[in-house]
Amino acid sequence: MKVFRSKSAVRAQLADWRPAPIVLVPTMGFLHEGHLSLMRLARERAGSEGRVVASIFVNPTQFGPGEDFDSYPRDEARDFDLLRAEGMDAVFSPEADEIYDPQAETIVETTELGKVLIGKLRPGHFRGVATIVTKLFNIIRPDAAIFGQKDYQQLAVIRTIVRDLDMDIEIIGAPIQREADGLAMSSRNVRLSPEDRAAAPVLARALDEAETMAPTGITASRLRSHVRARLEAEPRARVQSVDIRDAATLTPVSGSLTRPAVILLAVSFGQVFVIDNRVVYPAQEVP
Ligand code: PAF
Repeated sequence: MKVFRSKSAVRAQLADWRPAPIVLVPTMGFLHEGHLSLMRLARERAGSEGRVVASIFVNPTQFGPGEDFDSYPRDEARDFDLLRAEGMDAVFSPEADEIYDPQAETIVETTELGKVLIGKLRPGHFRGVATIVTKLFNIIRPDAAIFGQKDYQQLAVIRTIVRDLDMDIEIIGAPIQREADGLAMSSRNVRLSPEDRAAAPVLARALDEAETMAPTGITASRLRSHVRARLEAEPRARVQSVDIRDAATLTPVSGSLTRPAVILLAVSFGQVFVIDNRVVYPAQEVP
């Protein structure tokens, strides 16, 4: 596996590999089994002729003041070993000054989608994500890129910028990977105290119940209240948001479900922000 620190070096290598299809998996490192499932999907999509590239970059512009940029877990040597074991062809792991020119004045931002839900809790977060993902797409110029569905709104924002800015890149959403007790895998989970780690699967349990209740004709507002009450019953959980939105457009839904909806949860345990989501279906659309 080749390791690249500079834009010019990774571009030169990719020019050499083309026209083989290039599949990119952008990450912020501290890889876990959820990321590795994305790498495997990338390998599958690339086929025997294609090349698979991961990026590791803890992107400062998507963290707000007082968020966990400095304490975000990092272990590059371990990440490289894991990527090598997955058969990745290359990793792009630049320093921040390689990516952000001090003179930079251009940002990428969705006008609506990035400002609701998590965008409201973390102002500027999706602007940082949209800008770095656009830059990575311009540097690597992949044919396809893979993102986890755990970050549901992030995936929606990325699909939107790709559509709106005419990027010729296939965006693939990969299913959430879970620990045995249901907790969605995340690099931040290592920062949960043992007590919070034991409490955090409450998100998955609340979503399991909601998935069972959705086809009964329950209204979105009752379903939301049920999920919120379930989360609030866990004393260690500080519920930040519980939202039920149209699964395709992320617009609010009301009344009984008539189309697939996504339940989006954001809950803090101590300083750690835990998110999870589930697409739920009305009876006539249960897959
Ligand atoms: O999901 C992540 O790890 C990050 O938000 C991403 C997409 C790599 C952009 O920094």
